[in-house]
Amino acid sequence: MRVIVADNYEKLSALAAAEFAAAVGANPRATVMPATGNTPMGMYQELAKLRENDGTDFTGLTVFQLDAYRDIGRDDFRSLYGWMMRSFVEPLGIPEQAVVRLAGDAIDPELECASFEQRVHEAGGIDITILGLGPNGHLGFNEPPSLPDAPTRRVPLTPESLVSNSVYWGGEEQVPTEALTAGMTILLAAKQVLLVVSGESKQGILARTLDGPIAPGNPASYLQQLPNVIVFADRAAWGDRALP
Ligand code: PGA
Repeated sequence: MRVIVADNYEKLSALAAAEFAAAVGANPRATVMPATGNTPMGMYQELAKLRENDGTDFTGLTVFQLDAYRDIGRDDFRSLYGWMMRSFVEPLGIPEQAVVRLAGDAIDPELECASFEQRVHEAGGIDITILGLGPNGHLGFNEPPSLPDAPTRRVPLTPESLVSNSVYWGGEEQVPTEALTAGMTILLAAKQVLLVVSGESKQGILARTLDGPIAPGNPASYLQQLPNVIVFADRAAWGDRALP
């Protein structure tokens, strides 16, 4: 695990985007799993600029959806598929056919999770994941407690995630109470993980993720065991600790 502390959110976004673009340059047909949430949005805007200004080509990527609210259709304003399409897939010119949706509104969620895992498996796993850090240490919606071998599955959201997600949709009553999430097995097996963490509110959970016990109570702590993780934090999230 490598940690990069940027002076501010703009620099964090540019550094993370440069790292991702370099990885795509080395493997233009990579499979990727990009998070929604507020933190990666600056990075995605930087990637769109790299496409426009430097001609970086993202069109060969295959995109797998990280997580989805249960019973939310793709046209609902809260659809995480829709958010991923608007913020990542469309600005980078990736064809819609190259997106593997995790259908939160599937009639049979267990079957949906199993077939999603199968698609990931057939693709040879995920090359690059872009993750945010939940205030409770969740990755995707692998809510605490989550074991490292947790599969893709249906999960109830914790009270903390209901509160943090209410910021996106204008109130807690708008936040679905369940989700489907790509499992810990998929995330921890990714060939490269980029974790983006911003803001003072993430100081405590970031410190626990980097230095705390590796335990199901903080799913992100399992990243400590992986060599291929880069954590991009801004100063606000890093706090007063000595720089890495
Ligand atoms: P955020 O969400 O980027 O909006 O802080 C991170 C998360 O909950 O995973």
